[in-house]
Amino acid sequence: MINSVSEMQKICSGIKGTIGFVPTMGYLHEGHLSLVRAARKQCSNVVVSIFVNPYQFSPNEDLALYPRNIDRDVKLLTELEVDFIFFPTEQEMYPEGYKTWVTVDKITQILCGRSRPTHFRGVITIVTKLMNIVDPDYMFMGEKDFQQLVVLQQMAKDLNFRTKIIGCPIVREEDGLAMSSRNKYLSPSARKDALCLHNSLLLSKKLFKQEIISSNKIIAEMSNLIENNNGIVDYIEVVDSQTLKHLAELRTGCRILVAVIIENTRLIDNMEM
Ligand code: PAF
Repeated sequence: MINSVSEMQKICSGIKGTIGFVPTMGYLHEGHLSLVRAARKQCSNVVVSIFVNPYQFSPNEDLALYPRNIDRDVKLLTELEVDFIFFPTEQEMYPEGYKTWVTVDKITQILCGRSRPTHFRGVITIVTKLMNIVDPDYMFMGEKDFQQLVVLQQMAKDLNFRTKIIGCPIVREEDGLAMSSRNKYLSPSARKDALCLHNSLLLSKKLFKQEIISSNKIIAEMSNLIENNNGIVDYIEVVDSQTLKHLAELRTGCRILVAVIIENTRLIDNMEM
């Protein structure tokens, strides 16, 4: 396990063969492990970072309560034959006097950016730093955070990173709930209610197959299902998969993205049509 930026940078610059990188905030679940497996399959070296990035949490979100279990994470990553685990401290990533922030225009202000206005600035900044340290050939990210994936692909393109960012499919629990570290916050009854996210997306797909293409109509049906299961809709949006632009009508290949508050936990999910 490597804690220092300079040591990680030195190791990565000396690596022969391809580097596959998986950035994480730890408390690993099957979703993260699927990214590590994809990296292992495609690249000769795999680097995983574990860093709970304080700057992507809003003031009303409890950073201190974010689940952590470094010993278990290291065990899981060792089993998957990860070559290097980068586990820096906050002081190492943001030393005193730190002043630089990276943002992407427009697509960070919609969807999740509306209710979490500083979130993407934090994500983009830490990922830019990590990419500079590791300089990976490939970076593997989950499609569950679909807006994050598109935003980071835009940043990598705009800032001329050589890294190819690969989106990997959402991993779900047996009953359909998308895997997330935040699922841990759900009480048993909220855990049942949380199925409404996936079920509403399945409903949208069913309606699309019946040739209903009005976004408003589909969003209304999805909202009903979610609200009948004690969910509070933050947003439901039909978007173009590349640009995240709102679509008034569904078309093959578009995505529906949802954010729902269940009890006090905000969950997200999405599905390609
Ligand atoms: O998706 C996450 O876990 C985080 O946003 C990331 C990409 C590791 C940045 O902290």
